[in-house]
Amino acid sequence: MTLEIPEAAAAPLLAWYDANRRTLPWREEPTPYRVWISEIMLQQTRVEAVKPYYERFLHELPDVASLAEVDDGRLMKLWEGLGYYSRARNLKKAAQRIVSNFGGRFPASREELLSLPGIGDYTAGAIASIAFSQPEPAVDGNVLRVVARLTACREDVSRPAVKAAVSDALRRIYPVGRCSDFTQALMELGALVCLPNGEPLCDACPWKQLCRARREAAVREIPVKSAKKPRREDALTVFLLRCGDFAAFHRRPKSGLLAGMWELPNVAGTLSESAVSALAEEWNLAPKSIAPAGEGRHIFTHRQWNMTAFRVECAAMPDVFFWVRRAGFEAELALPSAFRSFLAALWR
Ligand code: ADE
Repeated sequence: MTLEIPEAAAAPLLAWYDANRRTLPWREEPTPYRVWISEIMLQQTRVEAVKPYYERFLHELPDVASLAEVDDGRLMKLWEGLGYYSRARNLKKAAQRIVSNFGGRFPASREELLSLPGIGDYTAGAIASIAFSQPEPAVDGNVLRVVARLTACREDVSRPAVKAAVSDALRRIYPVGRCSDFTQALMELGALVCLPNGEPLCDACPWKQLCRARREAAVREIPVKSAKKPRREDALTVFLLRCGDFAAFHRRPKSGLLAGMWELPNVAGTLSESAVSALAEEWNLAPKSIAPAGEGRHIFTHRQWNMTAFRVECAAMPDVFFWVRRAGFEAELALPSAFRSFLAALWR
């Protein structure tokens, strides 16, 4: 399939961007390293949530060399709360590869960028255009929506063929000398004006004369997306195990969801208080008291956890668990967000 974007579309978008662009920490000095870190963080996380993480990460790990050498625990701590931790592990792997294969210099071509762990089409395009001023589109959900509306494309935007067509159409109109701004302007239009769902702000749009969806009164129907599979829901019983000042943590398996991360001890299913008691005995915790400690829910991309927690006061600290005091926990262990809602009840 082919999409056509008039070449005349670039100029008004750039003029709009010049007047309306947000000041963002990664925009002001778009070195390849800074752009890369920001784009990886922004992949699953909102701009406002990313900002403090970004500043802290860049402060501690200002360049490829420092990232290549960072201790894994420290890296997880810097990423704690952002989720999708394989992003952080891939950052470190890619940094090591930039050191070993590219002499520590960030590669500039799309192909070389794509050879790095965690860098796919979108990120390669973003780095190549924003940091290296090349005419390389970076097509994320925002850009898909903007271009689907501009061209009144009624195909399902989750189809790879649509993404490829959007990318090709954009590549043909990349404005020489302003490739970096053009990529960011497309993202900015999606973030500030051509909003998903609800009400896009068409009156404020630099493309209001060009937009075919607007002309056809189809802004609400575009982009078309196939219905998603419903998320799988898992019930989980979470154990808040305390022994004096210590609390129990556990390492997750090396593969699968939240691979290798710390967790609060938990088992599948919603256990009754007596089942919790039996398990506490079986684990040799010498339980002194057991009490319900609330519920929690966490939504991942393809899965949802419905958690029920019990707090157990223990008289023993069996070493199937890792027992730490609060101060040690806060300094050392990165705990995924899924479990963090239980921390108040754990440490009280
Ligand atoms: N979302 C993804 N990349 C972005 C960027 N560079 N600026 C603002 N929002 C973004």
